[in-house]
Amino acid sequence: MTAKAGVIGWPVEHSLSPLLHGHWLDAYGIDGRYEKIAAAPEAFAATIRDLRQRGFRGVNVTVPHKEAAFALGETVNQAARSTGAANLLVFKPDGGIGVDNTDATGLFDSLQQELGPLALDGKNIVLLGAGGAARGAAFGLQAFGHAARITILNRHKARADQLVAHMRAHLPDANFTTGTLEDWPAAAADARLAVNTTSAGMKGNPPLDLDLGALNKSAAVCDIVYSPLETPLLKDAKARGHQTIDGLGMLMHQAAPSFQAFFFAEMQGRMPEVTPRLRQTLVKALQARD
Ligand code: ATR
Repeated sequence: MTAKAGVIGWPVEHSLSPLLHGHWLDAYGIDGRYEKIAAAPEAFAATIRDLRQRGFRGVNVTVPHKEAAFALGETVNQAARSTGAANLLVFKPDGGIGVDNTDATGLFDSLQQELGPLALDGKNIVLLGAGGAARGAAFGLQAFGHAARITILNRHKARADQLVAHMRAHLPDANFTTGTLEDWPAAAADARLAVNTTSAGMKGNPPLDLDLGALNKSAAVCDIVYSPLETPLLKDAKARGHQTIDGLGMLMHQAAPSFQAFFFAEMQGRMPEVTPRLRQTLVKALQARD
């Protein structure tokens, strides 16, 4: 029987997940299907029940359902608990639902692939933003890396403080500090990495107003935004000679553990590979939208 999984969101038309999972289904010759499922917030829980009855193995969850998905779960892992949000629901044969947030590992795995293992150990990181996307990023950098310090800077500092208070409840040893964007020059001076999780620089939004001249010369700059692929921040960083990491890396790496979970038997437990060919497929799809 054809194995089924999908992505649920509202709206969901622009999701690149079907392309990602479709690529791996082809690459590994799996008899599977990955669908887009549009569900309004009030229909979320009923749609999940329906998908389960229809034999789906699980779903990825995107905006605006990530908090509702977290609340649905019975088996919640630490990444989902610490972020209060889930992007992966796995329907278990015993009737339970496994809940995960793979955004955290997605960012970390992408950084590791680009910077090499241990590149962030003992180093300082600046995380820009304190919204939903920042939660996964902060958890991923803290839980999987061994940074000396993670400085979270946000326009409204209170939000950064709230994020850190929430994280500390789950990761008591977390080494976070917070500030506003005015604290950028001091934080940037000894950073090994700066990560943008704000929506500034996204297509249709004004760019982040930051002076990259303040950044340590050996720092890398990562933007989790992938539309456009080269944000004004990354363009500026590249022009100044910094290594840059765009948002497609995180997108591909957050999808890999979902695919592994949905098609575990067919993959014999293996993780699907994030390859240059997969990246090319996504780049083409993004270019076709411009
Ligand atoms: P998401 O779930 O995508 O993270 P969000 O929760 O609305 O979205 O958070 C958006 C983030 O982008 C916030 O950190 C926001 O800063 P504030 O909390 O101070 O509003 C940040 N942001 C949006 N536009 C920005 C801009 N022009 N400059 C700086 N930060 C910006």
